[in-house]
Amino acid sequence: MAPKPLLEIRDLELEFGRGRDAVRVLDGVGLRLGAGETLGLVGESGSGKTLTALAIARLVPCPPGRFVGGTVMLEGVDVLRMTGAELRRIRGGVVSYVFQEPGAALNPVLRIGVQIREALRLHRPEAATEAEVVRLLRLVGMPAPEERLRGYAHELSGGMQQRVLIAMALASQPRLLVADEPTTALDVTIQAQIIELLRELKERLGMAILLITHNFGIVGDLADRVAVMYAGQMVESAPTRSLLRAPRHPYTRALLESVPRLGGGGDRLVAIPGSVPRLGAFPAGCRFHPRCPVARAECARQAPALMEVEPGRWSRCPYHEGDARGA
Ligand SMILES: Nc1ncnc2c1ncn2[C@@H]1O[C@H](COP(=O)(O)OP(=O)(O)O)[C@@H](O)[C@H]1O
Ligand code: SF4
Ligand SMILES: [Mg+2]
Repeated sequence: MAPKPLLEIRDLELEFGRGRDAVRVLDGVGLRLGAGETLGLVGESGSGKTLTALAIARLVPCPPGRFVGGTVMLEGVDVLRMTGAELRRIRGGVVSYVFQEPGAALNPVLRIGVQIREALRLHRPEAATEAEVVRLLRLVGMPAPEERLRGYAHELSGGMQQRVLIAMALASQPRLLVADEPTTALDVTIQAQIIELLRELKERLGMAILLITHNFGIVGDLADRVAVMYAGQMVESAPTRSLLRAPRHPYTRALLESVPRLGGGGDRLVAIPGSVPRLGAFPAGCRFHPRCPVARAECARQAPALMEVEPGRWSRCPYHEGDARGA
């Protein structure tokens, strides 16, 4: 029998608002992540990536949010049914987060060392020492950590601030690090350094990483598998190499054709014709059909299910066979 995954999200349904005004923002979202594995989660802005990531530690603001279906099994326990005490244990203890804007996430009036020590005190009080703060800063490649820990966030570059936040996220020795567009706010060369750091940490610490990014170059460098989201749904998931070489879903293909590579001028998506449908105004049938270059008449009527199209590969398009792109 296959070992139990570290994280398994199934059929997750999340709504905002109530009654007739309720809008379903996540619709049948699923993903699996094994211990030590890295999963890349990609999709245009507004597709539901951050909400999916926040759901892992039940950090979605509820209300206005409301989970109306599905399960989020973290180490075999459903996060959506956990008590407050259990949630406090997993937040930071099992899953830690790193977000996009390092400057905004750090406290401007507290010394760096104090902030890292606070993270230690919360999750590993026995290790809340200056020596451990120095070790963590060294682990994330901070030069002169003994001096830096007495400094403040504004004295650091964006890249160094992100290293501090990664150190704080690692303070609890999480089994899963969720990195939500960790390099989007940084310069291209700094992006590459942070990605290199994540790769080193993954190898040294053996933790799983859920990496949300717009950049397929980053995905190709780091992820074992990739999941693609569109309009609140998963539309494709596959091992990284096969997805990059032969995308099966037309949306994945369009993304691959429109996204610059790492080092190729930033993290921004170049246009796919049309735009992501407005929340609550998802078109009938396949949600991608108004933008799909290979749509057919049935696509506007029938909502396709996510299907296993070959072992380990899933796609929400019943028509497209894929090709040997780049092979
Ligand atoms: N607190 C909220 N209240 C209402 N709508 C929200 C809230 N948070 C996110 N949304 C909406 O849910 C959709 C998915 O958001 P998000 O997960 O942040 O997308 P992504 O990370 O892929 O850009 C977006 O259209 C966003 O406007
Ligand atoms: S189901 Fe139809 S519209 Fe949707 S991705 Fe496939 S071909 Fe395109
Ligand atoms: Mg987001």
